Amino acid sequence: MDTKKIGVLVGREWSWPPAFIGEINRRNAGVVAEYVTLGGTRMAEWCEYAVIIDRISHEIPYYRTFLKTAILAGTVVINNPFWWSADDKFFGASLSMRLGVTHPRTVALPTHSYIEGVVEESLRNLRYPIPWSEHIEYLGGFPVILKPVWGGGFKKVYKLNSFDEMWRAYNETGTECMMLQEYINWDKYVRTIVIGQEHTMTIKFDVNAPWPHRYFREDNYLTPEEGKQVVDGALKLTRALGYDMNAAEFAIKDGVAYAIDFTNPAPDFDVNSLTPHYFDWVVKTMADFTIDLTKSGRTQLDDFSWYSMINPQRSGNGVSVPGAATQAAETANVKKPAAKRSKPASSTAKASKPAPSKPRTNRNKKTSDA
Ligand SMILES: Nc1ncnc2c1ncn2[C@@H]1O[C@H](COP(=O)(O)OP(=O)(O)O)[C@@H](O)[C@H]1O
Ligand SMILES: [Mg+2]
Repeated sequence: MDTKKIGVLVGREWSWPPAFIGEINRRNAGVVAEYVTLGGTRMAEWCEYAVIIDRISHEIPYYRTFLKTAILAGTVVINNPFWWSADDKFFGASLSMRLGVTHPRTVALPTHSYIEGVVEESLRNLRYPIPWSEHIEYLGGFPVILKPVWGGGFKKVYKLNSFDEMWRAYNETGTECMMLQEYINWDKYVRTIVIGQEHTMTIKFDVNAPWPHRYFREDNYLTPEEGKQVVDGALKLTRALGYDMNAAEFAIKDGVAYAIDFTNPAPDFDVNSLTPHYFDWVVKTMADFTIDLTKSGRTQLDDFSWYSMINPQRSGNGVSVPGAATQAAETANVKKPAAKRSKPASSTAKASKPAPSKPRTNRNKKTSDA
C-alpha cells in the first residue's frame, strides 16, 4: 500500500502543529504528516499531499493561491480555500436564519470611507443619509454590537449604547465593511469546536477573561436542552458552510442559544487557551478524521462547476484529476535540483543578485482566529 501524505501549513502557533504531526506519525496508519514547504507554484502543478490542513492562509495570500491549485490536483484542503475566501459574517447571519438557527438581528452597513479614486458619482447606488433610526429600531434598540463583516480575533468589536456612541465608532471604521447587531445580554457563552462536520466539543468560553485563559472546563455548564440547541446549530452551520475544522460561538439567554460567530476556519487550537484536556481531544480527533479522510478517496473537486469540464484521470491520491500522470512527472523534475533544466543559467543567476531581503513581518501581530 502506498503511504499517503498529510501536509500542514502553519503560522506562529507552536503547540498544535507538532502535536498533530507527531500523533499521525506515531500511529503508523499508512499515512504520514509533515509541514508543507513551498518556494513558488507552477500553474496546474501536481500536489503530493492527499490532504492539507491550512491554519494560516488568511494571513499569507500566496498559500491561498497554492491551495486552490492543490484542489485542482485532487488534494483535499481543510478548510476549502474557495469557500474560505468567499464567506463573511453577514452572509453567515442570513444563512443562519434560512437554516432555522437562531441568530441576533443584523444589518450590513455601507462603509464609512472609500479607497482613493472612488468619488461621489461612484456611489450613486447608495442612499444618503443611512437610515440609522430604522436600523436601530429593527435591532430592538440599544445596546448594539458593531463589528466587521470580515472579522476575526475580536478586532474592532464595539458595544454601543446610543446614537452618539454608534456614530463615533462608525467614524473610526474607515474602509472596513461593518455590521450592526442586536446585543444579546447572555447568561452563558460557549464555543463548540466542530471537526469533520461530525465531531463536536462544547466548551465554556469567556472572551472577557484575560487571554489566553478564556476556555473553562465546566462539564454541566449547559442544560441538556441548551446543549442540544448548540450542537445542532454548530453542526448545521458548519455543514452548510462546508468546513471540516471550525469553531462556532453561541450566547445563551433565557434558555435560547443564539449563534454569534461561526466562521472560524482556523480556530484557536493553542494548548494554553484550550487547556490540555480539550487540546488532547483536538489533536486526537483531527488525527482520526484526517487519517480516515486520506484513505477515503473523498475529494472537493465535484463541488466546482469546472470539474465537469476537465477530463479526469486516476491520480496517485486515488483521486480522479486531469493530467495527473504528466503533472506528477513534471513535479518530479521540479523537485530534483540536480536535473539539468533546473540549473540556473548564468544570466538568471546574475539577475537574482543581490539576494532578496527577508520577508517583512509584523512581529507584534498576534496570529488569531480567522
Ligand atoms: N451580538 C452579540 N451580542 C453579545 N455579545 C457579542 C455579540 N457579538 C459579539 N459579541 C461578543 O464579542 C466577541 C467577539 O465577537 P465575534 O463575533 O466572535 O467576533 P470575532 O470573530 O472577532 O471573534 C464575542 O465573543 C462576544 O463575546
Ligand atoms: Mg469570535
